[in-house]
Amino acid sequence: MPLNSANCQLENSDFMEYLNKLTERPALDELVSQMELLEISEAHLSPHIHFRNKQYQRNLIYENEYVQLLCICWKAGQRSTIHDHAQSACVVKTVTGIASETTFERGPDGHLQEIASFEYSNDVMGSEDDDIHQISNLQQNGEDLITLHCYSPPLRNMKLYSLDSKQGHRVEPLVADS
Ligand SMILES: [Fe+2]
Repeated sequence: MPLNSANCQLENSDFMEYLNKLTERPALDELVSQMELLEISEAHLSPHIHFRNKQYQRNLIYENEYVQLLCICWKAGQRSTIHDHAQSACVVKTVTGIASETTFERGPDGHLQEIASFEYSNDVMGSEDDDIHQISNLQQNGEDLITLHCYSPPLRNMKLYSLDSKQGHRVEPLVADS
C-alpha cells in the first residue's frame, strides 16, 4: 500500500525509499540501523497521531510484503499486554516521551518471570520472533508517548501472555488506518 497520507513528512525520506526497495525481509540489526538514522518528530507524523482513551492506539502508516510501519499512541498509564511477535521482528523508535520496556522469560516452572526493564527516549529498541516483552507509558504528569514501530514481515499474529498462566494465546493485532 502507498504511504497513507500525502501530508506525512516521511513520504520523501530515505527511510521510506529504503522500505520501498526491500526485496526480502531485512535482518533485525539492519532495520535497527535504518530506524536509528531516521530523523523524525511528532510533527512529521501528525496525520497518523490518534489516541484512544480505552487503550493505546495502533495507527497504520505503510505496509508492503516485507514491512509494516505503525505509529502507536499511548496516553499516560496505557500499556501493551505481555506479548511476543510470532515470526516478525519489531523495531521501535521513541518519537515523543519515554517508553518503558519490560522483558520476560520462562522461569523454571514455566511461568513468565521479568528479566529486565529499560527506558527509551529518542532511542531504538529491537526484538524478534519469540522474544517476550511489554511496553508501557509510565511517565509522570500524564505525558503522552508516541512510538514508531516497524515490523518485518508485517505482524499478522502474536501471542499474548499473563503472569498467572503458563499458556499464551494467539491473536491477530488490530490496526487502524490513519
Ligand atoms: Fe512488541
